[in-house]
Amino acid sequence: MRTSPVWNPQQYGKYAGERGRPFADLIARIGLIRGEDRPGADAPAVVLDLGCGPGNLTVGLLDRWPSATVHGVDSSVEMITEAQKLSSARLSFEVGDLREWSAPDESVDVIVTNATLQWIPEQLDLLPGFVRALRPGGWLAIQIPGNGDAPSHAILRELAGRPPYAEYAAGKSLRPDVPGPAEYVEVLSGLGCTVDAWETTYSHLLPGDNAVLEWVKGTGARPVLQSLPDELRAQFEAEYGARLAEAYPRRDYGTLLPFRRIFAVAQKEA
Ligand SMILES: C[S@@+](CC[C@H](N)C(=O)[O-])C[C@H]1O[C@@H](n2cnc3c(N)ncnc32)[C@H](O)[C@@H]1O
Repeated sequence: MRTSPVWNPQQYGKYAGERGRPFADLIARIGLIRGEDRPGADAPAVVLDLGCGPGNLTVGLLDRWPSATVHGVDSSVEMITEAQKLSSARLSFEVGDLREWSAPDESVDVIVTNATLQWIPEQLDLLPGFVRALRPGGWLAIQIPGNGDAPSHAILRELAGRPPYAEYAAGKSLRPDVPGPAEYVEVLSGLGCTVDAWETTYSHLLPGDNAVLEWVKGTGARPVLQSLPDELRAQFEAEYGARLAEAYPRRDYGTLLPFRRIFAVAQKEA
């Protein structure tokens, strides 16, 4: 029995500062390839945020590009309901699954997709459609977590694969084998883009009790937790939380969560 949807904007909103930083770092690189300024990103007219979540980061794109209209797409009704509270003449949102959704060809100046494609195992197959939607000279900016081997995920997979949880939760964890920078370079170069790809490991210092549990409850652990019946979910959280507290000890200065992320910024040939 499922008592709440997979995505919960309030839980995801915890640690919004830490979650927002890679987005800011990604957006800062649109218009640059390997440190060199390139045209086409100064005054885009149409910007898409694919997998926009609750829209709190999408709204920042209006300041970055004051003459743009920005449109967010996300498959979660709960996330889009939250995002729509931020709608304005220049900002709109829509429920849509990226595996089926597409923009008209050559209609978009900038596509941003932040912390979303890791949820779509066939994500590389979506890239040709994204590039096709871009105008010549348009930009695609991608960021995904690359921490599938970190203890937070390894412990989650291990517990979810064991009784009594496996019957409900097996296969619900994020896959560890996401593309790295080299794969994005390869695929996007093959689609006629100039590409800059890189990775960064952030050292988040999280305040509060059970900080890493609270973090993953907002993101990576949600599909596992929501697949479990209520009575098992509490037990799972207790067991998982205890293992996380051991793996990520709380110190006076906070709980250190190292977090690897993968970035790719690509410009379609003009
Ligand atoms: C970790 S959140 C990222 C939200 C936002 N981009 C941010 O950086 O805060 C991941 C989002 O991906 C969305 N998502 C997952 N699979 C999706 C799909 N197939 N199509 C569209 N959105 C999807 C989820 O609903 C969720 O809102």
